[in-house]
Amino acid sequence: MEKIIYRNRRNTNSYKWDIIPSEYDKGETIPAWVADMDFAVPKCVRDAIIKSGRFGVYGYSFAGKDYYNNFIKWEKKRFNHTIERDWIRFSTGVVAAINWIVQSMTNPGDAIIIQTPVYHQFAESVKSNKRKLICNDLVNTDGVYTINFEDFEKKIKDNNVKMFIMCSPHNPVGRVWKKEELVKMIEICKNHDVIVLSDEIHHDFAFNNNKHIPTMSISDYDKLIMLTSSTKTFNLAALENSIIIIKDKKLRDIYDAKTSDIHESSGNIIGYIAAEAAFGGGEEWLEQVKSIIYSNYELLKKSLLGKYDKLTISPLEGTYLAWVDFGAYLKPEEISDFFKKKCGVIFNLGEDFGGDCKSFVRINLATSKKNIQTICSRIKQNL
Ligand SMILES: Cc1ncc(COP(=O)(O)O)c(C=O)c1O
Repeated sequence: MEKIIYRNRRNTNSYKWDIIPSEYDKGETIPAWVADMDFAVPKCVRDAIIKSGRFGVYGYSFAGKDYYNNFIKWEKKRFNHTIERDWIRFSTGVVAAINWIVQSMTNPGDAIIIQTPVYHQFAESVKSNKRKLICNDLVNTDGVYTINFEDFEKKIKDNNVKMFIMCSPHNPVGRVWKKEELVKMIEICKNHDVIVLSDEIHHDFAFNNNKHIPTMSISDYDKLIMLTSSTKTFNLAALENSIIIIKDKKLRDIYDAKTSDIHESSGNIIGYIAAEAAFGGGEEWLEQVKSIIYSNYELLKKSLLGKYDKLTISPLEGTYLAWVDFGAYLKPEEISDFFKKKCGVIFNLGEDFGGDCKSFVRINLATSKKNIQTICSRIKQNL
């Protein structure tokens, strides 16, 4: 069985490890914020990159047949989702694609709805493109999040919403949407002619009985676009290779015109090679990484809930991000300094995700057990 290798990423130009403000960092700070992993990628990916390194020629290239085949097989095997080669498009990142789609398929001033709290770049892509941001707050019942469908539909109607940016599985609340929930969201969007961008970048992280369902696999709604990649699943974010699936020819033509205008229709050869190898041979590695992540989640829960019973840790149905409410112990204005200065740990702050989440933090579990233990013991020493 392939060994999962934890790496010390300090001094490797890592966003997560090397962009910690020096006022907090005495060389011991543990960052558990940016959503990437501290594990080396699967051996098959390293080997493919090394092979290309040895070859040493990087002239103009395109994605090989197996890049598409391996991804198509992956989707079929893991999600029973049938994708045709023609539907697949490239982007340098899911966030880049969201922006290109917002720019090309909506107009300035159009309303776009998101479900807060949610990955902060969704709101950014709406605001920076001068569209109107509409928020459908998720309903938090003791840490378990559900959708307020009435509010969702009312806001779509009242604001003449043109686009919905969905997060599935949901970062940061850890939900893996059930079929009924997906069906209902799509139905409402279809009834009101709303384009759906289904960001499924966390698709491979669903735990226990929770099964990720590609939105496209349960709906024939033509205004549905799926965004995913190998980058979260296999820790390849810096290789900037994402996959956009657009079934509808009219929407695909709009996307193609946009990427052609900005000269971003294809990616770099290493990104293609890595994604092809990962989808082709990385499954065993992924399953092991998932079990490390889930046991880190259980460790976090056991360690913190054992001492602080008024803490709320949302169920980790999906993603590798724990969502924790410290509201019973810390005032919102204390949260940032408490973790950074007192504990020497860096988490994402809840307020960055929208909604009423000032007492929350998001903790990245994709690291070593030792780091999670240290994080917990530092919290326990100081809270
Ligand atoms: C929901 C979601 N979408 C997109 C991204 C980033 O994607 P990319 O690096 O491909 O732009 C993240 C990263 O954390 C994410 O959580």
